[in-house]
Amino acid sequence: MYKISICNFVFGTTVLQPRMAVARLKNQNPGVGHCTKVPRNVNMEKLQHGYLFPEIERHELLHSNKYPHAKVINLGIGDTTEPLPTIITSTMVDFVNGLSTTQGYKGYGPEQGEKPLRKAIADAFYKDLGIKPTEVFVSDGAQCDITRLQLLLGSDVKIAVQDPSFPAYIDSSVIIGQAGELVARAGKYRNIEYMKCGPMNNFFPDLSATSRSEIIFFCSPNNPTGHAATRKQLEQLVHFAKVNGSIIIFDSAYAAYITDDSPRSIFEIPGAREVAIEVSSFSKFSGFTGVRLGWTVVPEELLFSNGFPVVNDFNRIMCTCFNGASNIAQAGGLACLSPEGFKAVRSRINYYMENARILVNALASLGLTVYGGKNAPYVWVHLPGSKSWKVFADILEKTHIITVRAVALAPLVKST
Ligand SMILES: Cc1ncc(COP(=O)(O)O)c(C=O)c1O
Repeated sequence: MYKISICNFVFGTTVLQPRMAVARLKNQNPGVGHCTKVPRNVNMEKLQHGYLFPEIERHELLHSNKYPHAKVINLGIGDTTEPLPTIITSTMVDFVNGLSTTQGYKGYGPEQGEKPLRKAIADAFYKDLGIKPTEVFVSDGAQCDITRLQLLLGSDVKIAVQDPSFPAYIDSSVIIGQAGELVARAGKYRNIEYMKCGPMNNFFPDLSATSRSEIIFFCSPNNPTGHAATRKQLEQLVHFAKVNGSIIIFDSAYAAYITDDSPRSIFEIPGAREVAIEVSSFSKFSGFTGVRLGWTVVPEELLFSNGFPVVNDFNRIMCTCFNGASNIAQAGGLACLSPEGFKAVRSRINYYMENARILVNALASLGLTVYGGKNAPYVWVHLPGSKSWKVFADILEKTHIITVRAVALAPLVKST
């Protein structure tokens, strides 16, 4: 797994793109069949119509026709590729076999996750950060938790997002009704605060120019730029949230890829317990993109404006909208956090980061300015003076490698 993003801050951008954006594009055609009298949700109608992936697929098809024997490498979709370590799969197999026995059978588990896994997550990722197992909610993935958090927050809040960032924050905001109208020319929603992040500001927003919003989605390491926010940057963010009475939803899905001393959790920052929620995932940490397992941390000190604990409402949401993660996946998750499992998982992460390093070195040796690849398997390349579709086509033609333009993720970057 690695993703390559090619950006041109003057003429256009190219980035990786998660699968959800692809799915979104497949649903734009009017259907064939019987029209009911049920109106379409107006918020669904507001979702931005993409055009990126059909175009990429068209290029890919043309390329495959032209070079039927070429081994095309797709760096666009953010999925893991390496088999799971047997120490993890054998635990899941044992668990599954147990399900066919009287002693081993298990039905519904706790909606918040199995106790040993909640404790193991607290110990493995939040040691010495004061996170209690009861503040950890095990789930079927970070993306699902992002949407459940939006359900918790409702339509009357305004969100801020890094620009560019993972599209789930914006799309879930549109679906729940927070985003307001789409300003088509800008490709931006009126009620979303876009916090521009790029090389000009060390990939961290100018908070003095950022309007107050109730919710701040912040992804570190960032998808797609690969930038991991520094401790100082996150201290500024926590301070900003405190001053504004905002809640940070911190996405640490790629935290395990950090190689320097950048914080792996927002809870490393003093005061964060009062202003932040953290969503995270086994997907990129242990190759569980298909197995599906994630978690969200909601600290007890985080309160709504009326003093009500956010954690109580999140618990209610999890009980109502989710009935607990698959017990097979949870058995696998626990195995990932055993000393041997952790070691095995780390070796996969090292493999992916080695791929990223190879890409960074190759691109840098061509004299290109390259960002990322150090704290995340994302490589963000600056190609001045070329139109991004031309860059995409040139790379595909010469190397059989697929990259993705960033227009769908970075409305503030002028695209061609
Ligand atoms: C930043 C970020 N958060 C969350 C997710 C989704 O994670 P999950 O597979 O746990 O739903 C992704 C997937 O690409 C991601 O890039």
